[in-house]
Amino acid sequence: MPSLQELVRAHTDLDEDDVAWLQRLMADWQILADLSFADLVLWLPDREGRGYWAGGQMRPTTGPTALFDDVLGTFIPTGRRRMLDEAYELGRLVREGDPEWRDDVPVRVEVIPVRRAGRVIATIARNTNLLGVRTPSRLELSYLQTATDLTQMIAAGYFPLSGQRSDHADSPRVGDGFVRLDAAGKVVYSSPNGLSAYRRLGLQGDLAGLVLSDLTRDLVPPRHRPDEETLSAVLGGRDGRETEVGTDDVTLIVRSIPLRPNGDRSGALLLVRDVSELRRRDRELITKDVTIREIHHRVKNNLQTVAALLRLQARRTHAEDAKAALEEAVRRVGSIAIVHETLSHAIEETVDFDQIADRLGAMVVDVSGVETPVRVVREGSFGALPSDSATPLAMVLTEVLQNAVEHGFADRAGDPDGRRKGRVTVTARRIVGRLHVVVEDDGAGLPEGFDLDGSTQLGLSIVRTLVESELGGVFEIGPGVRGTRVQADLPLD
Ligand SMILES: Nc1ncnc2c1ncn2[C@@H]1O[C@H](COP(=O)(O)OP(=O)(O)O)[C@@H](O)[C@H]1O
Ligand SMILES: [Mg+2]
Repeated sequence: MPSLQELVRAHTDLDEDDVAWLQRLMADWQILADLSFADLVLWLPDREGRGYWAGGQMRPTTGPTALFDDVLGTFIPTGRRRMLDEAYELGRLVREGDPEWRDDVPVRVEVIPVRRAGRVIATIARNTNLLGVRTPSRLELSYLQTATDLTQMIAAGYFPLSGQRSDHADSPRVGDGFVRLDAAGKVVYSSPNGLSAYRRLGLQGDLAGLVLSDLTRDLVPPRHRPDEETLSAVLGGRDGRETEVGTDDVTLIVRSIPLRPNGDRSGALLLVRDVSELRRRDRELITKDVTIREIHHRVKNNLQTVAALLRLQARRTHAEDAKAALEEAVRRVGSIAIVHETLSHAIEETVDFDQIADRLGAMVVDVSGVETPVRVVREGSFGALPSDSATPLAMVLTEVLQNAVEHGFADRAGDPDGRRKGRVTVTARRIVGRLHVVVEDDGAGLPEGFDLDGSTQLGLSIVRTLVESELGGVFEIGPGVRGTRVQADLPLD
């Protein structure tokens, strides 16, 4: 499907300001289609005057369509449809007395010239499927009357309104609630939905005859209303913009479109949408998010307190291996704290694990107390991980890095190139639903006769349990190119 931009550039002489005007018009023409119960087609004049190109199309949500096929991008030569020629050349609204018959459907066609800065830049054909038309109700008459005002404004160059665009997802539509005001801001007519919205705000009787801005001021507590200027401009129908009003439980978006078919403001069209449910869910999500982050922050603080207590105890202990065990515990608790700290800044329940891996690498080197300078480098990326796999993986990485530093480079004094720096490489790759992690050092290598299954030491036992049970992965350890290579292959949900 070609865009308006592309069609304009390919076939017409319209300039950028014209296109911007048409885009603003089309941002709001759902309103016109709905009020008219009709399909709209925007016709762009061909550069050589040969005819018109369909630059846009909008179906009504309030009634049956009259256009069963999409017409966007199609061409009608001059002389084929007299009404299009007339509206474009004479610059006035053209209406046909008799309906056109299309595939057994009677369709009434009207053509509205679109004027900008005194010039007709395009036309809009309004096609009404007459099979959908019954004896009009009060609601239908009010819709049609307002549609007429809007078409006159388009023809006179007063619509689209200047200023902000309101075509965002929350913006009210005709079906959400329709209120028609007179020039003094009094309600002339309200659709049943418009009335229910105000009933939910606390209105007892009818809306008709009330000055809407006064009523709103009465029903809405000051802290739920916009500033006085906005309130009277929007709810008085003087300004074309949107605002939110409500109570503790109810939130309404009100959009105002001042109507001035003949130049002077004759009243306004107000669209009202009850967004209480949306706003309540927004609020809930925000508080849930904030709570989760706050909890991670507190868990981190508690873990740091635990680490501090253990460190204190390690300092007081004289037995060397008890001291070492306590210090290891401090480190393990510290690595979990890093995960919670990262989660306390995360917007979602996933963490950027690269950041955690880099911090763990730095921490392990920092506390190792090994003479040889060791550098931990990361290659590739872990990406975002769910928080419940981040904690076990952080512990695994800590143990493995710790081993590399501690056992790989502890004893470099006797090494012929003992002054050489140590290097530990952490490689992370995501391969179709799996995370592949390799930690390789260029240190001393595993001791002779090393057997993973026979090892009863705590570090590697923790690693194996976490990888195999907690993370559902596969763990391997063996000789690397120079030193030791550890690898874990983990499924990602
Ligand atoms: N990267 C490594 N380089 C050399 N030896 C290692 C390495 N990783 C583990 N080892 C060997 O495996 C043993 C078991 O490790 P671990 O279970 O973490 O216990 P600990 O670190 O307390 O000795 C270590 O004592 C060490 O001999
Ligand atoms: Mg260890």
